[in-house]
Amino acid sequence: MDAPRSLNAGTTPTGPRLADAWYVLALGRELRARPLARMLHGQPVVLFRDRDGRPAALLDRCAHRNVPLSLGRLEGGELECAYHGWRFDSRGCATRIPSLCAAHPERSLVPSLATRERDGLVWVYATPGAEPTHEPHALAKLGSEYGEVTRVVEAEGSLQAALENALDVPHTAFLHRGLFRGAGRTNRIRAVVTRAADRVVTEYLGEPRPEGLAGRLLSPSGGLVTHHDRFLLPSIAEVEYRIGDENHVLVTAMGTPVDDARTRLFAVVRFRTRFPRALVRLVLEPVAMRIFAQDAVMLAHQAEAARRFGGEHYMSTELDLMGPQIARLLRRAELGKARVGDATPDAEFRREIELEV
Ligand code: FES
Ligand SMILES: [Fe+2]
Repeated sequence: MDAPRSLNAGTTPTGPRLADAWYVLALGRELRARPLARMLHGQPVVLFRDRDGRPAALLDRCAHRNVPLSLGRLEGGELECAYHGWRFDSRGCATRIPSLCAAHPERSLVPSLATRERDGLVWVYATPGAEPTHEPHALAKLGSEYGEVTRVVEAEGSLQAALENALDVPHTAFLHRGLFRGAGRTNRIRAVVTRAADRVVTEYLGEPRPEGLAGRLLSPSGGLVTHHDRFLLPSIAEVEYRIGDENHVLVTAMGTPVDDARTRLFAVVRFRTRFPRALVRLVLEPVAMRIFAQDAVMLAHQAEAARRFGGEHYMSTELDLMGPQIARLLRRAELGKARVGDATPDAEFRREIELEV
């Protein structure tokens, strides 16, 4: 095995917190008749639909005696606390206090978070009480000929570790050997990394159709793959494959930091192949879930080791194309040096390597 050509070592603190960011907290269809308890950056949040059917988000703590509001129930688009029955609207204002004869306070008593619903996802702005400076990420528009599957998975692991995992090519031929890559002979391919103020993109050139089960199903006749991996602030990992003119797969995974050591991924998979959608789903879904299960085990071990050693420690080679770039962007965003949605190209930056997969 060749010695690594470039090394860097150091420690990185876990859990960058971006105040000016949207995260997906739920699927639209999850907001029904009962309040939904979720976590964002270790902070409990309760989600519900207001009287107009729009999603609302409040910190999950009753202003009166701290009881989680998610234990309560919904009454006409308002949230009723399970303890004394105080009711709150989507702004966190009390609308009713049972047994109180005097007027109740008019101002907001429970901090609220801005919400948006688009593409079947419920986005929540990270900072309670703040006016968002931008809109959440919109999924690329694709035609009606595409099949679509949305899956929500949770992994023990920091947001940074989970996003790197989603965009890390070298482990696919090793950890997932035979499922995707690594089933046949290895191929030497080229990777080109470019970046903009809010994103980093790797393009893989010259990769033959992967020999694993998933690749064979997508394109039985083989062919050359056009493959892009993208990370976009604050937490979007996108993997795109094209094989020939017919086959196109776009996976958009939106990461939500549940807390410093736990990440939820909302993955929207869209695909176009010459096979019927139902067949592709039937065959590929178990393979995809098997791949994710292997990743989840590794992420949990990684997080546990970081805990035991009191922090993360990284040594990267030039093969680690995305991880250091993701860490850099998250750090810059945390410091206010990178802004979500600023796609100004970084013309000075271009990295090109060869790798074997
Ligand atoms: S604790 Fe919520 S109404 Fe008293
Ligand atoms: Fe993986």
